Amino acid sequence: MLFGWAADRLLPHISLTREELMAAMELPPKPEMGDVAFPCFPLARELKRPPAVIAADLAAAVNGSNTDVRAEPAGPYVNLFLNREKWVGELLGRILAPDFALSTDGSGKRVVIDLSSPNIAKPFGVGHLRSTMIGNALANMYRSFGYEVIAVNHIGDWGTQFGKLMSAYTRWGDEAKLKEEPIRESLRLYVRFHEEAEKDAALEDEARRWFWKLEKGEADAQELWRYFVAFSLEEFERVYARLGVTFDYTLGESFYNDKMEAVVQELNRLRLLEESDGAQVVRLDEEGMPPCLILKSDGTTIYPTRDLATAIYRKQVMGADRLLYVVGNEQKLHFKQVFAVLQRMGHEWSEQCEHIAFGLMKFEGRKMSTRKGQVIFLDEVLDEAVAKAEAIIEEKNADLANKREVAEAVGIGAIIFGDLKHTRMLEADFSLEEALRFEGETGPYLQYTAARINKLLNSGGFGGGTQLPSSEGAGTYISQTAAWECLKILAAYPDTVRSALRSHEPAVLSRYLLEVAKSFNRFYHQERILTESAPETSAKLLAAAAVHKVLCSGLGLLGIKVPEQI
Ligand code: ARG
Repeated sequence: MLFGWAADRLLPHISLTREELMAAMELPPKPEMGDVAFPCFPLARELKRPPAVIAADLAAAVNGSNTDVRAEPAGPYVNLFLNREKWVGELLGRILAPDFALSTDGSGKRVVIDLSSPNIAKPFGVGHLRSTMIGNALANMYRSFGYEVIAVNHIGDWGTQFGKLMSAYTRWGDEAKLKEEPIRESLRLYVRFHEEAEKDAALEDEARRWFWKLEKGEADAQELWRYFVAFSLEEFERVYARLGVTFDYTLGESFYNDKMEAVVQELNRLRLLEESDGAQVVRLDEEGMPPCLILKSDGTTIYPTRDLATAIYRKQVMGADRLLYVVGNEQKLHFKQVFAVLQRMGHEWSEQCEHIAFGLMKFEGRKMSTRKGQVIFLDEVLDEAVAKAEAIIEEKNADLANKREVAEAVGIGAIIFGDLKHTRMLEADFSLEEALRFEGETGPYLQYTAARINKLLNSGGFGGGTQLPSSEGAGTYISQTAAWECLKILAAYPDTVRSALRSHEPAVLSRYLLEVAKSFNRFYHQERILTESAPETSAKLLAAAAVHKVLCSGLGLLGIKVPEQI
């Protein structure tokens, strides 16, 4: 907003397009250096003059033809000081307007996002948690930008591991235990299977036979499988409800069973399949990748085959314009191979497919491996976060009415934000203690700031749902205050969401929200907001309402609830 406005003032004096100007502009590092800075280096070559000379001339030209901006040359830069009195009212009006930060960039475009996608009968791991949170934030951001989003939970409900589970269950299973704790019991069976299989190789064959029976549709195998699927889904659902995440479709990998034959036939027709040790593969030597396995030697299908059928379905049946996969970086090669095979099949749209990878997150220093049974159970992590949040709230505000509910929002918000504040690929070590600190760079800090503003608005008569007064003239009262800095940051909200989407980095939005909260807290600590002067109070409360709006909107996009009081 500010950039656009400043660009309009520079445009008549410069041989760049408006877009080029906007791209070159910067926010000065210190407020006393102005509101917008324009570096003149890019012009030096064309004009064959030193940047500092260009800056001086440009500043003079801007000052000669405008009264609502002051330009000052500073070395190679032109620093622009906006006429705040004029701009405060305008900015407030725009930020508080109902359509602020809602864009139509994506109208008519459909994005299919693959997110969460845990595996049946296995614990919902930290990787799946990250995929859920990153994917959900991206889905929300895409929606707010006018895209039609189809969020798909691609449940891992097929594969040789079910053979292992069935083999283990028929040997050592206990129905009552499975009913009570489906995932923990499945895990115990799975771990035992691996232990025993080390001593007895025949077990692996038995497991393969079970899976083969399952793929052939034999009744006993099918029945057992359905049983595992139903129990696991119930347990996952509880986690999703707590995280506040919903999907447009939950489709297991098994959904594509009857769609793979066509893919294999097409690969055959195109002569892309080759035999390798009895298996069928697509060679990807030209792409510099190992071959992509399509059919195993016993004829059973595998993960890449299912992903080929899935991608084709998403494109052709769901009508995707973009296909995004939010999956850990350890599957990088898998997705490169799948996209390359699609390309080989003549599906030009494979270019619309993108693997949105993320790094491995350690949890309090622990890594995890399902095979060895070293597992962090997500529900336990959530419970622990909520219990800790409850203890903190008890200390801070013992009289709070709905403590339990608030603790749930704060504990879970801490986990979500603790993850989303890091760029995706960073291999962060998650510390619950740190994520819950109300005065750190945390979700609770943002929630608490929003609650503090809410209280302020209520005591000033600007509480929830009241018609806010016009922002006209507000500039007279707050143009010289820390509120101005705050408003400048708020003005960057729509562009921040746009840039978070462009890089598929929710962290861009998370870090921005921290800046918003910090700048509000500076304003709050430096000045009295509820003053004796009614118009001054009203102007300051409007600024606070604008901060509240952006905080709530941004947290909402990240998938974090904002309690009214904490
Ligand atoms: N279930 C898989 C896993 O846990 C992730 C699936 C990701 N999505 C996909 N279309 N392959 O490793």
